[in-house]
Amino acid sequence: MAIISNLCNIKHIPKLKKGFGSIRTWQGRNLKKSMLHIKNLNTKYGPIHVLKNVSLHVDQGEIVSIIGANGAGKTTLLLSISGLINPVSGDIFFEDTRLNGTSPSKIVSMGVAHAPEGRQVFSPLTVLENLRLGAYARKDASGTEIQDDIEKVYDLFPRLRERRDQTAGTLSGGEQQMLAIGRAMMAKPRLLLLDEPSLGLAPKLVEVIMKTVVDLNNEGTTVLLVEQNARKALEISHRAYVLETGRVTLQGPARELAEDSEIRRAYLGKDYKDLSER
Ligand SMILES: Nc1ncnc2c1ncn2[C@@H]1O[C@H](COP(=O)(O)OP(=O)(O)O)[C@@H](O)[C@H]1O
Ligand SMILES: [Mg+2]
Repeated sequence: MAIISNLCNIKHIPKLKKGFGSIRTWQGRNLKKSMLHIKNLNTKYGPIHVLKNVSLHVDQGEIVSIIGANGAGKTTLLLSISGLINPVSGDIFFEDTRLNGTSPSKIVSMGVAHAPEGRQVFSPLTVLENLRLGAYARKDASGTEIQDDIEKVYDLFPRLRERRDQTAGTLSGGEQQMLAIGRAMMAKPRLLLLDEPSLGLAPKLVEVIMKTVVDLNNEGTTVLLVEQNARKALEISHRAYVLETGRVTLQGPARELAEDSEIRRAYLGKDYKDLSER
């Protein structure tokens, strides 16, 4: 398919913000440093073969989204990266370290945090207690540092500040989603894995969440975003991959994918406006 980008063709890689370490090659071009590199990943649930030879990469400073229908394997991919499922074959590298077989808590302490699908906040605990738990892997962080980071989450989501003593199970869906992202932020991740952050939210809240993702990225967090809301995901991402029944079928700059006729028909709906029209 025409849209499949040649990843070696660096003119397709969108410009990223200054400040991220770039590598100058012998050709004098700037190449981005790879943060996550997945090669030929296969993941199964018993006999059910879900991820089939999935290969992808996320460079430092990028927002990369994975779009795909329900059941395509998006959640399974994030669970594989964060060590919650063991892939049967293939490689997952975070910078220079192979993650396969590494415990989830070690992966968090290496700088990879996961805000899971369905929020999965600790319902009986308060907002504040949930945020503190997010920092559990930061053994060397002082109490003041953690308190400062809690304040940063509250600045990002003032609603959480208002509700800091409320139990998480009594929050609205949108507030739980803010808490799930805030809790992942408390791990001070360099790579943030977000699974369907917009699922079930009212359009206004979807905007808040998406803006937050962009803000976090502007502050230096690399993001791998899984979304069924392809329109929103492509709007804020540098690059994207399409996952169909466990296989990567398309990949490229988000702007190009948003203009691809097949993507528009399958994922964006016929009322989708051109990026240039907005
Ligand atoms: N724990 C599980 N046991 C067996 N099959 C599962 C399990 N979790 C997910 N699956 C199956 O794996 C496939 C991919 O699921 P998932 O990764 O949740 O997709 P997505 O997030 O793209 O909706 C689906 O067919 C789903 O039914
Ligand atoms: Mg899912």
